[in-house]
Amino acid sequence: MALRVALIGCGDIAHAYTVLARRFRSFEIVACASRNPARAQAFAAQYGLVAVSVEEALSGAHGIEAILNLTPPASHFAVSMAALENGLHVYSEKPIAASLAEGRQLASRASAGKVRLGGAPDTFLGAALQRARRLIDDGRIGEVVFGHANFISGGMEHRHPNPEFFFKPGGGPALDIGPYYVTALVCLLGPVASVCASGRVGRPVRTITAPESPHKGSTITVDVFTTIQAQLLFASGATLMMTLSWDGWESSLPHIELHGTGGRLVLPDPDFFGGELELSDSSGRERIGTNGLPLGAENWPPKDPMLANYRGIGLADFAQSIADGQPHRASAELCLHVLEVLEAMNISAKSDATPIRLSTSCARPPALDTQQLDGMLVEAR
Ligand SMILES: NC(=O)c1ccc[n+]([C@@H]2O[C@H](COP(=O)([O-])OP(=O)(O)OC[C@H]3O[C@@H](n4cnc5c(N)ncnc54)[C@H](O)[C@@H]3O)[C@@H](O)[C@H]2O)c1
Repeated sequence: MALRVALIGCGDIAHAYTVLARRFRSFEIVACASRNPARAQAFAAQYGLVAVSVEEALSGAHGIEAILNLTPPASHFAVSMAALENGLHVYSEKPIAASLAEGRQLASRASAGKVRLGGAPDTFLGAALQRARRLIDDGRIGEVVFGHANFISGGMEHRHPNPEFFFKPGGGPALDIGPYYVTALVCLLGPVASVCASGRVGRPVRTITAPESPHKGSTITVDVFTTIQAQLLFASGATLMMTLSWDGWESSLPHIELHGTGGRLVLPDPDFFGGELELSDSSGRERIGTNGLPLGAENWPPKDPMLANYRGIGLADFAQSIADGQPHRASAELCLHVLEVLEAMNISAKSDATPIRLSTSCARPPALDTQQLDGMLVEAR
């Protein structure tokens, strides 16, 4: 039986989850809710769902068993906590909460109530990052010694219809895009031990230029660092420099580059599921495509992001794991550790790059088993 899910928050990303849910059989989105009931009605009509009030969704009406929390980060805690308190499972968009303290409260409430808590991102389950993981686990680049990770863009005011929350606490490139990078790295290299960072606010006032935005032309006061440069020391001993910025233009820096005792591995943008890897070692340089692999992108680079998108695989694994009585991969433990790394970057950047030793850790989630994947996907791979 598919897990019956209600999504809360019918905004930008809700469309991707709802369209892509058709790819997975372990969960079904049956209902939607928003604090704006007219929006929930319109969304429900568009996708053939039942529109419910937020309170109804949180009370488990219509046989709802789990909440997919797609509200902005500042609302994640209140919505998720109410669902957990009512005995529902929760899968949240990232970050799992706007602060580690809130995230910890959610995790304790979930374990006290014997319900599941998990969350995005789930791109670490995609073809590119799973292939990279296999190469590393097989020793193809030896022991990872150091690396670089870079996300550099102009900012969300140019593409999101409602971009204000990206520039408020809980947002910024650290908490918005950082989860993709840090989750990928933790899944590849294991947990982070300590962090130090510096930060800047490049432009303290942003003008919204996104073409479909109803707020086009209005301005946003920036309350978070829009550039963070951090050094991450992993428990394994690997060290990595990370730049996350919405103050850049173009960049030719690799998204992720790892140097090991036996070779170098370059990875595509961890915000996507597919893409091409590049492996260099003493025998030369090899490009490794992931098109055609399970959860690879059929059309890399994505002309239509929906086609190259498997957003929801983390929720599918969550639902399947509940049915099988197994731990889920996009776990609360992973989300909390990633959140602490990102929060530590902001804290360190506010205190002259003071190094911060982390209090959380987590095991690497198991690599994705192809048999289990077959069980979750609607069509044979
Ligand atoms: N947009 C993207 O490309 C994208 C990609 C990946 C992840 N995300 C994540 O998804 C989440 C939502 O982002 P979005 O871009 O869809 O935002 P959005 O602003 O487009 O949509 C959020 C929706 O939630 C509703 N909402 C806000 N507070 C609520 C509450 N307390 N109860 C019920 N509804 C509430 C709003 O009315 C709005 O419709 C964020 O955590 C974001 O980081 C977004």
